[in-house]
Amino acid sequence: MARHLAFVLAFSGASVAFCAQAEPLDTLESLGKALFFDENLSLNRTQSCATCHNPEIGFADPNGAASLGDDGVSLGDRSAPTASYAAFTPDFHRNDEGAWIGGMFWDGRASSLEDQAGGPPLNPSEMGMPDKPSVMARLQENPGYVAAFDSLFVEGILQRPEEGYSAMTQAIGAFERTGVFAPFDSKYDRFLRGEVELTNQEELGRLLFFSQQFTNCNLCHQLHTSAIHPQETFSNYEFHNIGVPVNADLRAENGANEMDKGLFNNPQVDATGEIGKFKVPTLRNVAVTGPYMHNGVFEDLRTVVLFYNRYNSRSEARQINPETGKVFGMPEVPQTLAVKELTHGPALDDKRIDALVAFMKTLTDARYEHLLD
Ligand code: HEC
Ligand code: HEC
Repeated sequence: MARHLAFVLAFSGASVAFCAQAEPLDTLESLGKALFFDENLSLNRTQSCATCHNPEIGFADPNGAASLGDDGVSLGDRSAPTASYAAFTPDFHRNDEGAWIGGMFWDGRASSLEDQAGGPPLNPSEMGMPDKPSVMARLQENPGYVAAFDSLFVEGILQRPEEGYSAMTQAIGAFERTGVFAPFDSKYDRFLRGEVELTNQEELGRLLFFSQQFTNCNLCHQLHTSAIHPQETFSNYEFHNIGVPVNADLRAENGANEMDKGLFNNPQVDATGEIGKFKVPTLRNVAVTGPYMHNGVFEDLRTVVLFYNRYNSRSEARQINPETGKVFGMPEVPQTLAVKELTHGPALDDKRIDALVAFMKTLTDARYEHLLD
């Protein structure tokens, strides 16, 4: 069968430099890539996946704690996580001990990348399309898409909204599974391969990070048993409540006044003991994907480390959030706080705090190293 070589010429906005080349849409991945960057999938044609998961900036949203929708008004209550390395997230499930693991979003409510990709186009506060048929109509405006969907799936698929929509999510998922999202070429990876050395400070940070005696970061931020696994993603994909305070500035802006119940918002979850738990995020590219936490309450990576350290430090000065000059806010949900896991190890001095920050900076993909200060 002769394959159509379809071209998409209209990559737009911030992502131009990333994919200036028009590419043939002859594979699921290349079709997914075109869709990922296509603003025509949003009602006012202002927003693509890449708007909030900008490939130039760690596949995250550089525009503040939460993302503005295609309507230019709707402001969410959660921060866009990086889509880099997301493909390594296991599907949402319970482990042998009955604890929830994995899934997409801070509450795991989309099981897989494909499930996830179907959400934003129809989400009224994101891309805002009214329904699947209208998304199909947008796809059919582009003859390159019609040819690609016909040849990669089945003739006429875009005329059948359920199947067409599902095909679209499969293509986007396939793109998100490509190496573009997971190059494993950070300084840390190059160090593991023996290509570069870490500075003394970075090495101290690495030892602290993996030490069960001084910190227990790796209790939650380590996937593989070996501390030198070449494909470490720095999350075990469990759900925990680490006591993140309300982001009062964001709530003042978006008008949200309900508690974010985290994992409990996942329709599959009904135990009240899960209220306030959020998925452990990957730390890959973390230094370039702030602000931090599910609600973007902290701007600076060092503040995050100080936030953890307050649980172990009795010094009053260590209870202060340097970004506000005030004591760190109370946990939004105190009753499920991971007290045991968080009050582990000694208080850290400045040298060790800075070392942990320096170590996390080494987890930045080569492509983003120029963004580090
Ligand atoms: C308006 C901004 C916005 C747009 C547009 C958007 N996202 Fe997101 N994305 C978010 C936010 C915010 C979250 C977290 C929401 C939550 O946890 O409830 C998220 C979560 C995700 C996740 C989960 C990552 C993880 O580790 O849990 C992936 C993957 C993702 N988006 C991919 C996409 C794709 C693919 C598209 C296009 C079809 C897209 N996003 C469009 C803001 C956006
Ligand atoms: C009990 C499990 C647990 C431990 C221990 C832990 N974390 Fe986390 N970490 C989480 C969870 C869960 C979140 C997300 C919390 C939220 O948004 O509500 C998080 C968020 C973060 C973030 C923000 C990432 C982002 O993209 O917003 C950083 C950075 C981080 N942790 C670093 C560390 C460091 C460094 C240590 C050790 C000092 C550590 N963590 C220990 C579970 C843990």
